[in-house]
Amino acid sequence: MVDPEAQLPPIVDLTRPNDARVYDYLLGGAHNFAVDRDLAKQVVAAMPEVKQVALANRAFMHRVVRESVRAGVRQFLDLGSGIPGVGNVHEIAQSIDPTCRVAYVDSDPVVHAHGELILADSPNTALVNADLLDAADVLDRREVRDLLDFGQPVAVLGLLSLHFIQDHEDPDGALAVYRDAIPVGSLLALSHPAVDPAHEGNDAIDLFEQGYMVRPARRDLDRFRRMFDGFELLEPGITRLSQWRPDREGVEDVPVNGGLGIKSSTTTTGR
Ligand SMILES: C[S@@+](CC[C@H](N)C(=O)[O-])C[C@H]1O[C@@H](n2cnc3c(N)ncnc32)[C@H](O)[C@@H]1O
Repeated sequence: MVDPEAQLPPIVDLTRPNDARVYDYLLGGAHNFAVDRDLAKQVVAAMPEVKQVALANRAFMHRVVRESVRAGVRQFLDLGSGIPGVGNVHEIAQSIDPTCRVAYVDSDPVVHAHGELILADSPNTALVNADLLDAADVLDRREVRDLLDFGQPVAVLGLLSLHFIQDHEDPDGALAVYRDAIPVGSLLALSHPAVDPAHEGNDAIDLFEQGYMVRPARRDLDRFRRMFDGFELLEPGITRLSQWRPDREGVEDVPVNGGLGIKSSTTTTGR
């Protein structure tokens, strides 16, 4: 059998590890190479919790997507999607309703190269290689406009992606543009590493700082809550991922917060 990943374009350098493929490996995915697995194993050996963080975040994604479909939302805009393999948004949403439409957005061209192959036979999906901070560009992409109807509710997802963006880059400004582009009844789901001053040295930020090249933004609970500006948080509000509408017993607690908000009025906050 011909390995479809043998067709990857030259942008995919198989001699260098790639963050998104390391993450895919941590999730148990198949879209990674020896060089990624070697790095992932080093990271896991140094801090075994990192795998639990990825898995807990993925489980949160599944719960949020199911809740969104249950709430009547059939369209998703996934900002900072990573490689769309291993039980990703369209698989979960379309397993409930095959008409669900999912636009994935990621700035990493390697994600795009893998994702195009993965999604080649997946109807009602699109993948754009774009910077989520340039919301006007994302919303104007033909693939996004052709797939999503902004007259109907959309669930915007930013799962473990906003900590890659520093405050001076104005993530709130971008979120405001997405918020203003979607109608009342739309949803916003975010997850973000927690900063817990009482457990300094033992939180997700330290994990990432030890193992990843990017320096993640540190945001406490109040700061994270402000990212939901213009949305009303649904029960149980912002919590550790393990406490957000758990659907099974014994879910491991990881230092990551998450929440789901609904746009309940057209009133914006002046941005
Ligand atoms: C840790 S992965 C999270 C993947 C997925 N959202 C999940 O929850 O499993 C973060 C992803 O965000 C992407 N990312 C970081 N900054 C971005 C930006 N400014 N625009 C678009 N994507 C970005 C990275 O390329 C990476 O694939």
